[in-house]
Amino acid sequence: MGDSVDSNDLSIPPLPLLERLKDYGQEDVFACWNELSAEERHLLVKDIEALDLPRIDRIIRCSFQSQGIPKAAIEPVPESNVSTVENRTMEEREKWWKMGLKAILEGKLGVLLLSGGQGTRLGSSDPKGCFNIGLPSGKSLFQLQAERILRVQMLAAQSVNEDAGSARVTPIHWYIMTSPFTDEATRKFFENHKYFGLEADQVTFFQQGTIPCVSRDGRFIMETPYKVAKSPDGNGGVYLALKSSGLLEDMAMRGIKYLDCYGVDNALVRVADPTFLGYFIEAGVASAAKVVRKAYPQEKVGVFVQRGKGGPVSVVEYSELDQSLASEINQGTGRLRYCWSNVCLHMFTLDFLNQVANGLEKDSIYHLAEKSIPSIHGHTVGFKLEQFIFDAFPYAPSTALFEVVREEEFAPVKNANGSNFDTPDSARLLVLRLHARWVAATGGFLTHSVPLYATGVEVSPLCSYAGEDLEAICRGRTFHAPCEITF
Ligand code: UD1
Repeated sequence: MGDSVDSNDLSIPPLPLLERLKDYGQEDVFACWNELSAEERHLLVKDIEALDLPRIDRIIRCSFQSQGIPKAAIEPVPESNVSTVENRTMEEREKWWKMGLKAILEGKLGVLLLSGGQGTRLGSSDPKGCFNIGLPSGKSLFQLQAERILRVQMLAAQSVNEDAGSARVTPIHWYIMTSPFTDEATRKFFENHKYFGLEADQVTFFQQGTIPCVSRDGRFIMETPYKVAKSPDGNGGVYLALKSSGLLEDMAMRGIKYLDCYGVDNALVRVADPTFLGYFIEAGVASAAKVVRKAYPQEKVGVFVQRGKGGPVSVVEYSELDQSLASEINQGTGRLRYCWSNVCLHMFTLDFLNQVANGLEKDSIYHLAEKSIPSIHGHTVGFKLEQFIFDAFPYAPSTALFEVVREEEFAPVKNANGSNFDTPDSARLLVLRLHARWVAATGGFLTHSVPLYATGVEVSPLCSYAGEDLEAICRGRTFHAPCEITF
């Protein structure tokens, strides 16, 4: 960023700024200068001055150039490298659950929500977490997550003291990444809902960065004649944002050692899952991810792969996976070869986060996503530049993959109702059906006036996190579906 220009004389574009833009072939941003009012000229100059032009230029050039460079061939991750549901014993699960609760009680876990995305596919202008998927309670995705955090805190406290009333609760700190597009509305939503019962000071909001959208020839797209079109720098922007906001130090200061990072749009997300945390601690790895088996070849999920034989684990995003590879079948098992799907829930040690925040910063290759971008010429085809949170995995000395049951933990909310997949309606049904099974398993009964496959019940996360402790509430009782079961 250069020196500020003399804001009084804007009859022509400020020369030093124009020269800097010319160095990077971006002088067209001043193309409409003569039609702009004095105020608009001022806004445009401020907009450009806020851009780190050398860095952005490097990212654009490296990202476009990398398109032509072949990457190391990918290989499927062997099943033996994954902790599968099938191979897990009850003893292991109980051991990990207890280990996780202990670490939570000791304040070693922080949760980090990635909530800077724009939810365009869902057709809502609100942050995705505010979305109500139509559960009987009407709870938003944010509220479901907040209440799961509250429940885990309580379970951790009870693990050393059965008497819930006198149990010492350790707050789990919740870091929420927003973007300029979601920040204000997110903060207001939390304030208006009194942080859903959490302490206000256990929630920290921070903003990720943005980056200009560019045309096929790498030039900035203008959203208005006096504003460059920008988009969030991808959920991998989290590393840079954590570093620049000083939050890595904040985490260390709080004694946090492990970070559970996840996407906002999974209605069944097990935030702060003690089992996953216990597994992670025992495995002694720097990074881990929950995976589910891919449902069908075209499912819009990233898949875990190995780069080269025995190479590091990484993710190939659905938009970048060759369609023929996506459909390849393992002849031995009859299953998809690339079957380990990313559900956007990762665990990292704080040490690893620190290492990545310094490493990825120097990485100038961003993913190019071709999108329709609102511009002064109407919607125009261009590119958003993004880093992905899983770009960090190749930096990890070791990454553990932990399979979970799709029906228990993955209810994506991606598209508006009426689409074929991953809608609020489909996510709601997944929640209702799972919770109906919990209730039936603990001796409760359901009545229903629509077929049971199309309805169910909702168990408040404040009562149960994963189906535990429901006997006292449900045994011998009858619930009319759909309804919410709470204390
Ligand atoms: C994401 C995963 C995909 C996975 C799928 C599972 C990434 C890059 N892709 O895909 O591999 O299989 O979820 O549902 O993780 N976000 C930000 N800032 C941004 C962009 C996104 O915080 O700049 C957040 C979103 O708010 C959301 C999460 O990252 O919470 C996932 O982003 P989204 O763009 O919805 O990814 P998908 O395409 O669904």
